[in-house]
Amino acid sequence: MSKLAVIIPAAGSGSRMGTRIPKPFIQLKDASILEHTIRAFAQVDNVKEIVVATSEEWFEHIDRILEKYASQVNRVGIVEGGSERQHSIYNALQKISSKIDLVAVHDAVRPFISEQLINECCEAASNVGGAIVAVPAKDTIKKVNSENTILETPDRSNLWQAQTPQIFQRQLLIRAYEHANRDKFLGTDDASLVERIGGSVKVIEGDRRNLKITYPIDLKVAELILDERGRI
Ligand code: C5P
Repeated sequence: MSKLAVIIPAAGSGSRMGTRIPKPFIQLKDASILEHTIRAFAQVDNVKEIVVATSEEWFEHIDRILEKYASQVNRVGIVEGGSERQHSIYNALQKISSKIDLVAVHDAVRPFISEQLINECCEAASNVGGAIVAVPAKDTIKKVNSENTILETPDRSNLWQAQTPQIFQRQLLIRAYEHANRDKFLGTDDASLVERIGGSVKVIEGDRRNLKITYPIDLKVAELILDERGRI
């Protein structure tokens, strides 16, 4: 069984949520959003390391969360986040031990990831290099110019919305991050860094419940999902 490390970027501000507290630290029923996310990964057998990237003022808070789950994994750690998500992940990558085969990157604000999707992604990443969870685009996507005039309507049947986890063989992800750093390339997800160095990345069809809690409406949906789970 491949040994998996999980990097959880949890830095950045809560600007789109309109709250003072950054999104990962907002309470969702019995735990913060971040704790729900850590819990989801800690219960997966092959998860051996968890590293969270955040700002220093939240270190103590995260330490307390990680302590609760440390016995379920071999190593837990915290690193300082960067100005961009990509920089936060780069810092966390430095902490992953060389015994690890696969590295998953998963947004702190996606607490409803399932064990089955994590396992499917691991299997595909072991086989081809990388795999990400994504869902088919449900809206038609428009490409526009700076005046918002439509330039192009790409064929929706080939378009997927990337989520996380995004899972890669460790050496491949390190190489992708080193190249991006060297070229000052800033991507909006991890797969894009791997793609640009020629790495192969598969899409695993995910689940709309794996939502990224970004806007106040997402919090309401998240509460409904938890209520529903409580009834199962
Ligand atoms: O802001 P965005 O929606 O891209 O955030 C996605 C994830 O990346 C969140 O979990 C957020 O905490 C994290 N992030 C980070 N460092 C940044 C910006 C965002 O770790 N500088």
